[in-house]
Amino acid sequence: MDREKISRLSHADHPINSPLDDESVRRLLHRTVDRGDERVLDLGCGEAAWLLRTLAAHPEVTAEGVDTSAQLLAKARKEAVDRGVEDRLVLHQQDATEFASPRPFDAVLSVGATHAFGGLLPTLDAAREHLAPGGRVLVGDAYWEREPSAAAREILGEYEDLATTVDRVTAHGWTPVFGHISTRQELDDFEWCWTGSLATWALDHPEDPDSAEILNVASTHRSQWLSSYRDSFGFLTLVLRRTSE
Ligand SMILES: C[S@@+](CC[C@H](N)C(=O)[O-])C[C@H]1O[C@@H](n2cnc3c(N)ncnc32)[C@H](O)[C@@H]1O
Repeated sequence: MDREKISRLSHADHPINSPLDDESVRRLLHRTVDRGDERVLDLGCGEAAWLLRTLAAHPEVTAEGVDTSAQLLAKARKEAVDRGVEDRLVLHQQDATEFASPRPFDAVLSVGATHAFGGLLPTLDAAREHLAPGGRVLVGDAYWEREPSAAAREILGEYEDLATTVDRVTAHGWTPVFGHISTRQELDDFEWCWTGSLATWALDHPEDPDSAEILNVASTHRSQWLSSYRDSFGFLTLVLRRTSE
């Protein structure tokens, strides 16, 4: 089965590929890009939903997005044309850990992509490499809302609780200037949209050779979520500045 197909279908109803609703995204972007002429970079941009919203809101902002997925970047390109912002968006299909730019950025985003860098702190180190003095980083990552089961750790990996997560970020030289803790509704919506989009597609395409497998992926994921990690998984998005440059 093509993982890209699963990824594309599962995000049909939830364009931001993280547990955040439209209003949360708007408020987080407002605190990250407020001057209106910033250069913005998104590491692990997916369909570039964050960048497209920023470009649409600010006619003088320019943006670059990096992702390994050709399909997601193609979708981002098409959406940029539809919104008339393609002249201000550059997309790079490459490993974000290897991305280099001759000029720094005023804002660096990386939401739900910390696994690409080996965790939250390495993601912040990578963002810092690209950040202009006084710039802001918008980063989103998981934390444990409650002590996780062994199964939850097995599925999701290793995280800290909320307070420890923020303590580690501040000890690493960053100061949060805004933040958002995903609500129960945002977390549940994200999972229902993920599994629901896949299930809907499978039921609508019974003749497709992938239909049964996709229905099974949706069902397995839904069971794992409900039985293994719904109560322990939390998601935190921070707007950060360097505590000292
Ligand atoms: C959960 S999605 C988040 C997408 C986007 N930031 C958002 O919030 O909508 C994670 C993204 O990271 C990308 N990714 C994973 N590993 C990567 C890597 N090494 N370099 C660049 N992108 C990567 C995936 O292709 C995917 O689009």
